[in-house]
Amino acid sequence: MYDFYFGTKEEIDNDPKKFLLTIKRMLPRWCNSIPDSEYLALYDVISEMSLPDKPVFVETGSGASTIVLCYFAIKTDGEVFTWDINGCKLSYLRSVLNDTLMRHYVEKNINKHWKYITFNSNSDFVGINILKELGKNVSVCFLDSEHTLNTLMKELSSICEVLNDTAIVAIDDGNYSYIAHNTAYINMVRKKIGLPPITDSPDNIGRNFWKEVNNYLIDNFKEVEYIKDSYKDNYQTDIFWSYYKSDRDTMANLSMEKTDDLEHRFDAWKVSIRK
Ligand SMILES: C[S@@+](CC[C@H](N)C(=O)[O-])C[C@H]1O[C@@H](n2cnc3c(N)ncnc32)[C@H](O)[C@@H]1O
Repeated sequence: MYDFYFGTKEEIDNDPKKFLLTIKRMLPRWCNSIPDSEYLALYDVISEMSLPDKPVFVETGSGASTIVLCYFAIKTDGEVFTWDINGCKLSYLRSVLNDTLMRHYVEKNINKHWKYITFNSNSDFVGINILKELGKNVSVCFLDSEHTLNTLMKELSSICEVLNDTAIVAIDDGNYSYIAHNTAYINMVRKKIGLPPITDSPDNIGRNFWKEVNNYLIDNFKEVEYIKDSYKDNYQTDIFWSYYKSDRDTMANLSMEKTDDLEHRFDAWKVSIRK
């Protein structure tokens, strides 16, 4: 299904961003939840850092971001650990990766570079905690799962236990502010089964995720650099918004599209040395 021709090896090596964006733009919407500008910003942030030998990348919430992370893992002989409760998505993405990246890196084996765990990222027994058991040190994490502060901060604290001395922490939907439950998503599900929306209680709304993550990192690391990422320069002209306009307008009517503080939809920090 994804058996397209993406150019010669040399053309792809000379312009990997074009290759990666081509793969993303042919994804179905259910696997493609981040704007192109965010996808490329994730690429830029990683390509600008100096990675150790066999780096470890972590992702919660699979999709387009998986392609960027797998690209770096395959290229650098590293590994990506992805947590997602949706096994269909993981299996679909593996077939996309097989028909794209793995055609380019024909001598490599995806199973050595992409480990996915079809389970809750915060499980005590098979969640992010297992990285400690496995003896892994993480260079980059991209957190994009449930979009509640409680889930995000638990993921973050588990990740911080296993970060390398210098690492990147990146998040999606940093402009969200739900604390315990993602009301917009719940109401979308309720709408589809003909139930009325729930109303948000004030104690479910906190500060924006990006502010909470920023404070947590400052409290826990000796050096924290807030990265001025390329998403902030490019999101306003991103064709992703107009291409998916009809879907996004419907999402906006259900409050799933947070248009406030959109420049913080993606945020990334470079952190060094745990306090
Ligand atoms: C917004 S999507 C991820 C988008 C993806 N990063 C991309 O670039 O397209 C969120 C994903 O998180 C998964 N998810 C939600 N809560 C989770 C949890 N606690 N643990 C693991 N996966 C979770 C969902 O199944 C969904 O596939």
